Amino acid sequence: MQVNEPCWCKSGKAYGQCHQAFDQKLDSYRRKHKIVPRRDMIKNEKQIDGIREAGKINTAVLDLVAREIRPGMSTEQINTIVHEYTLSQGAIPATLHYQGFPKSVCTSINDEVCHGIPSPTRILQVGDIINVDCTTIYKGYYADASRMFCIGPVGPKRQKLVEVAKECRDLGVEAVRPWGYLGDVGAAINGHARKHGYTVIRDIGGHGVGLQFHEDPYVCHIGKKGTGMLLVPGMVFTIEPMVNMGRAEFYEDADNGWTIYTDDGLPSAQWEVTLAVTETGTEILTY
Ligand code: MF3
Ligand code: CO
Ligand code: CO
Repeated sequence: MQVNEPCWCKSGKAYGQCHQAFDQKLDSYRRKHKIVPRRDMIKNEKQIDGIREAGKINTAVLDLVAREIRPGMSTEQINTIVHEYTLSQGAIPATLHYQGFPKSVCTSINDEVCHGIPSPTRILQVGDIINVDCTTIYKGYYADASRMFCIGPVGPKRQKLVEVAKECRDLGVEAVRPWGYLGDVGAAINGHARKHGYTVIRDIGGHGVGLQFHEDPYVCHIGKKGTGMLLVPGMVFTIEPMVNMGRAEFYEDADNGWTIYTDDGLPSAQWEVTLAVTETGTEILTY
């Protein structure tokens, strides 16, 4: 690519003023046999601005759920809150009809690891821990985040699982550095979980996000420091570890084909953010 041609990132800037030095740096890593991201994993500023706007709505949706969630409420009511507020903002709930998923949010309670389907007959009880996972599409851009909620007092063991899972997510975020490695993230997360006697799910993980719901790379929450794909400015992905109180084995609901449960029936907790890798560090785009 010539220095005066428009850059491949579609910023509109000349290549020489945009990703030329970046490409040279990437090439030097490639020569050292590092796994480098493809160009379609790199977002320009305008795209990141769009994901940030989607993220603001997504954060507001989860803030609203946080204010409304209470014992006696059905998970269908959470779905209604998410669906109606999202539409009121001119946005679209990404999970609705995604590969046949029937609802506007995932609600996963206790031993449900993820992809729980809201239902009018599933009533929140004191002692439940629930993950509410929301993805918003705004002007074509996607932002994805989830939080745990404790329904009334849940007891010290569940409370601790929820807290440690959040710490795992945050340590994963802190492990992201421009020109660092994806394996740093999984190493930080799994190390912290194991320290507390918990396990981390290996085969369901984070993902690139922004122009589509699930993009490359796959973000494994178990990893080895200094290994895996190089992390570079312009990458946008989620970190969303599923941390189990017991064993890591899981199975899928045979009836609905979506909901994932722990094999041993013990609870699981998950927190998710969407973040961008910047020149100097990271920017969290939705909490
Ligand atoms: N939001 C989930 C994630 O973090 C994906 C849900 S897909 C669905 O990747 F179809 F189950 F909604
Ligand atoms: Co999500
Ligand atoms: Co996600």
